Amino acid sequence: MSTVARPFVVTYATPSWDARDVAEVPPRGMWCDQIVTKVREIDLRSDTVTQPDERMRLAMSRAEVGDDVLDRDPTMRALEERAADLLGVDAMLWVPTASMGNIIALTSHLRRGDRFLAPRLAHVLENELGTAAWLSGGMPEAVDWGAWPGRMPVESVRAAGRVGPYHSLRTTLLCLENTHNGAGGTVTPPDEHAKLVATARDVGLKVHLDGARLWHASVALSVPPAALTVGVDTVQVCLTKGLGAPMGSLVGGSTAFVEEARRIRKMLGGGVRQGGIVAAAGLVALDRIPDLAEDHVNARKLATGLAELGWEVDQPETNIVLAGTPDTEASLAALKRVGVLAVPMSGKVRFIPHRDITAKDISEVVGRIAGL
Ligand SMILES: Cc1ncc(COP(=O)(O)O)c(C=O)c1O
Repeated sequence: MSTVARPFVVTYATPSWDARDVAEVPPRGMWCDQIVTKVREIDLRSDTVTQPDERMRLAMSRAEVGDDVLDRDPTMRALEERAADLLGVDAMLWVPTASMGNIIALTSHLRRGDRFLAPRLAHVLENELGTAAWLSGGMPEAVDWGAWPGRMPVESVRAAGRVGPYHSLRTTLLCLENTHNGAGGTVTPPDEHAKLVATARDVGLKVHLDGARLWHASVALSVPPAALTVGVDTVQVCLTKGLGAPMGSLVGGSTAFVEEARRIRKMLGGGVRQGGIVAAAGLVALDRIPDLAEDHVNARKLATGLAELGWEVDQPETNIVLAGTPDTEASLAALKRVGVLAVPMSGKVRFIPHRDITAKDISEVVGRIAGL
């Protein structure tokens, strides 16, 4: 028996795969008793898995920086000012994550004994470890969707916001989410947004908008982002979801809110020093908002492919594809076996095309799933 090392093991999957699908092959001329093809993984778990590209890395390396806890960092300030302009609010504050942006906004709005409303499966209800309650102090209430996934009927907001007897919680805040992640990236258009805000005002509620993917809504509707923030007290937007930044979100509203938000960010340990390094990536990310249209096209292509294969899937409005299968966990495991990565969401399989995924990748994904 030979003692030569045989590092490569090949399972030959489908002969039609091109060279890009082979992540590791034996060097030419190397002896091995099996040829091993490692399937190239196509990662559709989230639009946050993107890699910062050369332009972004260059911008980061050249960023002008200062101590933002002391006398402000010039690149962070430039990013905050640009985002405030885009969103039509007085001021914005850079925060490391979208979750922290939401926590800061909710902490400034809520007092103990308050209740806040949010659409069923909202990120603040399901995916932030209950911080809205135990850190910000508000009791959550999920408002059911109406005819459209992720969208609350105004009558439900009016009813839930009504003042009760003295021993009931005081409802003081409406939390919107546009696009709505758990509903499959669904979009609330400006007229409906305006009605929700007006109803909230009527019953004395403040309004926070979780706009982690507000850019996607604005691209899908071909309206400026500011058209989707009208009337809100606070808004949070994210730079890592589909735009390729390695970190960073922004939270903002009035100048007074941002002053308070800066204090709360510090309280949470979120004051950063030379944050311009990452803010520079954020400025590049903002240039890339129009590119999101391509992700939306890829999401529709994927949904169509899955539907043709018999998967239960709605046509996405933005970049999130939710597909129902009889057994989500089994489907995710099967997908993983053919190198397609997805996650469970709202009882379904969630796929998110993003800027590191091409139309050809989507065809490849559909081809691999067809072979399951
Ligand atoms: C709507 C929404 N809000 C907030 C977040 C939290 O983002 P982060 O992980 O950056 O805190 C997410 C994450 O996917 C989200 O989808």
